[in-house]
Amino acid sequence: MHGKIMGTGRCVPDKVVDNDYLSTVMDTSDEWISSRTGIRERRIATTESTVTMAAGAAENALLSAGLGIRDVDMILVATASPDNFVPGTACEVQAILNKEAEEVKTDPENPSGTYEACHAVCMDINAACSGFIYALSVANAFIQCGQYRNILVIGVETLSKIVDWSDRSTCVLFGDGAGAVVIGASEDGIFRHLLHTDGSMGHVLSCHCRDNNNPVVRNEVQTGYVQMDGQEVFKFAVKRVPECISELLEQNHIEKKDINYYLLHQANVKIIKSVAKRLGEEMEKFPVNLDKYGNTSAASIPILLDECNRSGMFKKGDKLVLSGFGGGLTWGAVLLEW
Ligand code: UT7
Repeated sequence: MHGKIMGTGRCVPDKVVDNDYLSTVMDTSDEWISSRTGIRERRIATTESTVTMAAGAAENALLSAGLGIRDVDMILVATASPDNFVPGTACEVQAILNKEAEEVKTDPENPSGTYEACHAVCMDINAACSGFIYALSVANAFIQCGQYRNILVIGVETLSKIVDWSDRSTCVLFGDGAGAVVIGASEDGIFRHLLHTDGSMGHVLSCHCRDNNNPVVRNEVQTGYVQMDGQEVFKFAVKRVPECISELLEQNHIEKKDINYYLLHQANVKIIKSVAKRLGEEMEKFPVNLDKYGNTSAASIPILLDECNRSGMFKKGDKLVLSGFGGGLTWGAVLLEW
């Protein structure tokens, strides 16, 4: 038994912020951003929050899978930008979805509806931009060991609240949004994962805790903002991602020619092109949507997956590789059959 994607969903903020707008509020230009990254616009949360977007994406994934919240045994949320440290975002998503399901019970058009709360086990996973791949892998492991059958896996970020809007070298890159999948237990097809971490390189992409005025021990004041050595991250990604994908395919005796699509973390189109080249694969196999959303970290792969799914791109039996990379440093890949 292993995981299979039963449904996908997404929820992104309404507010679209394009490069031209950013060039009116800071020293940047559409030319610089789009030529260096491929990003043209991003969504920025105004009324939305990490929890509301996560719940919205989860509801859409459940609808697409034809399941209800009570069918879910576990909720995993990958995020580095939760609304609160405690409770975890996954717990809050469970509460929202339960409340909405309960309201159906009191719906006058459905007076006989019975309601029993979902008690799915909930936890958050922070592996930055690899978070969704890590969460999918955890879900797959729980299904493989036979403990759970249906797991909701959500990737969500509100990065706009943790970037430094006075640092043009980072703030123009990121966006907000959420994507989700329902993973069910299946005997069909393939679902394999491979994860890697190098904690010694954590400093190249970080977001420290804010100073909290502790009167007992005066800590060095922390910024609480995303800080990144872009060129180091770039070098890491273009080396580690193709290595990891090749390792995963070799482990499973699958050749690159048998892969229909590679869905990579959407950080920079130059990274995606470089990975395609190093794998010896055509860019046609690498769907890209970072022009519309920027880098949404843990949300980028599930948002892309949902867009591709809803556009009818995938056929039953297609083999997909999903791969993420980012802070930690973390990286990993999932091989699955649609
Ligand atoms: O999810 C994981 C995430 N991170 C990544 O994947 C990031 C990977 N790295 C990258 O994508 C690229 O390194 C960046 C897009 C972040 C930066 O591109 P770069 O070609 O490495 O530029 P740079 O940092 O070397 O900066 C070049 C110049 C600098 O000016 P000077 O010193 O040459 O005069 C920067 O000050 O570009 C300047 N610059 C900007 N100019 C206009 C930096 N940010 C901006 C900006 N607008 N927004």
